[in-house]
Amino acid sequence: MLDSRILNNFETLYNAALEASGSDATAMILATAGADGRPRSRVVLLKHFDAKGFCFYTNYESAKGREIAANPAVSLCIHWQGLGSGGGTQVRIDGYAERLSAEVSDVYFATRPRGSQIGAWASLQSQTLDSRATFEARYAQYEREFAGREVPRPPHWGGYRVTPDRVEFWYGADYRLHERECWERTENGWQSRLLYP
Ligand SMILES: Cc1cc2nc3c(=O)[nH]c(=O)nc-3n(C[C@H](O)[C@H](O)[C@H](O)COP(=O)(O)O)c2cc1C
Repeated sequence: MLDSRILNNFETLYNAALEASGSDATAMILATAGADGRPRSRVVLLKHFDAKGFCFYTNYESAKGREIAANPAVSLCIHWQGLGSGGGTQVRIDGYAERLSAEVSDVYFATRPRGSQIGAWASLQSQTLDSRATFEARYAQYEREFAGREVPRPPHWGGYRVTPDRVEFWYGADYRLHERECWERTENGWQSRLLYP
């Protein structure tokens, strides 16, 4: 469980970032390293968070899904340029990813636009695609299959929660005199310390 001081601070920053830049503020870099140990990163959207962790949704059979299955240690990095001065604000979250329950993924899937729901069936995310036409044909096929009814969540699509054991807040300041506050989960609960910028 996240310390309430970390969660409250994150929530305050997140709400300010949403106000400053709308839904762009939900973009975060997700870094994974699979069985080969090589790090890979990409953008995903932060969809919800609470004391248990930070959640995003994706295709479980994508490259990132396979990497997480091989090695659940991940790192998130969020940059809010519009927040504060001298480089904005950065939050780094290191932890372990686990799948959200099917029920939680169902609830979120149901809120997505129908086109995105059909897209989740049509896309074999991260696999080789021989032509755009093939993808469009798959999309059309699922459109027909689900015509006149709700689109169910594909079994290969759902959420992950990243449960952190380290969170760092970085606040930009003039002359590179940035502030860094690092929180780590220890046997005695969450401890914070400052880091040189
Ligand atoms: C702004 C933005 C938001 C994105 N959000 C997501 C997302 O929430 N989930 C997702 O699976 N991919 C998202 N993507 C696409 C990923 O960056 C990535 O291309 C895709 O997930 C395949 O990654 P992989 O091959 O490493 O698994 C987003 C891309 C951008 C630029």
